[in-house]
Amino acid sequence: MGRQRKSLGNRIDNVAKWLLKFRIISSPARYISNSKITWSLISRTDRIRTRRLEGRIKNGEMPNHISIIMDGNRRFAWSQSLEREIGHLKGKDKLKQVMEWVLNLKIKYLTVYALSTENMTGRDSGELESLYDLYQIGLNEIAEDPLIHSKKVKVQAVGRLEELPERVRVAIKNAEDRTEGYSNFIFTVCLAYGGREEIVDAVKEVAIDHAAGRLPLDEINSEQISNRLYSAEIPDPDLVIRTSGEERISNFLLWQIAYSELYFTDVHWPSFSRNDLYEAIESYQYRRRKYGK
Ligand code: IPE
Ligand code: IPE
Ligand code: MG
Repeated sequence: MGRQRKSLGNRIDNVAKWLLKFRIISSPARYISNSKITWSLISRTDRIRTRRLEGRIKNGEMPNHISIIMDGNRRFAWSQSLEREIGHLKGKDKLKQVMEWVLNLKIKYLTVYALSTENMTGRDSGELESLYDLYQIGLNEIAEDPLIHSKKVKVQAVGRLEELPERVRVAIKNAEDRTEGYSNFIFTVCLAYGGREEIVDAVKEVAIDHAAGRLPLDEINSEQISNRLYSAEIPDPDLVIRTSGEERISNFLLWQIAYSELYFTDVHWPSFSRNDLYEAIESYQYRRRKYGK
């Protein structure tokens, strides 16, 4: 369907380009390429394409747990000559949309990477403060969101939360308290999170239990580590999506993604569309069929 949209857009462009060759009809040509009708036609075909894709993926096996590395906020901002803070703001708003799309697909678990331990040392304080403001605002919005309550979504944050400023921790507690009774869907936001740190913290707990005589050496196995991860009750992700073109994991859920399908897209996070989500799921379904899993 991607081809269909391109060909319609391209065909209109080509007609316009051809008309531009003749000076006398350059204004109608310009009109064709810029007109509302053209754009409404293209956006209509976009919507049809997305609806068809939705129908197709709904017939396939849905992932039970999607996790997302939401990358590219600053590149999005730079590409549009906007401040980086606007990129992060658009990123926050995108997450609300994506949550809605995922809920509508009845996918039980959604986990997102919002701040890494590395970001906390690697970004300047001005950027970090504005990110903290956005987490605070975003979590408070989620806590009030009627959709979260009507769909009974449990919200939780994981990571070295003690390293976050007080205002963010208060907002986390508010969102967690307001949704703690729910279990239809689980939304997890990884903040001050690092996969290696998570494993280190689990190993420390294993060492404590071993030293206290509760866990003999020959009972230490991968299950014992899994049980001590930040969100031990959540199944491993089936699909990991990373936006904005980088093809690396950047210390996200290292232990849990041992068998996850990885999907990388060039789209910057604030531009991530419903169609992009569906394409990621379609790719997941295709790979599962191909390997007969
Ligand atoms: C992701 O976007 C948000 C965070 C890491 C907090 P970036 O800020 O990494 O944006 P890019 O990747 O530099 O464009
Ligand atoms: C990963 O993005 C972390 C988040 C999306 C929160 P980064 O932009 O921080 O990762 P690197 O630096 O490109 O590896
Ligand atoms: Mg980045």
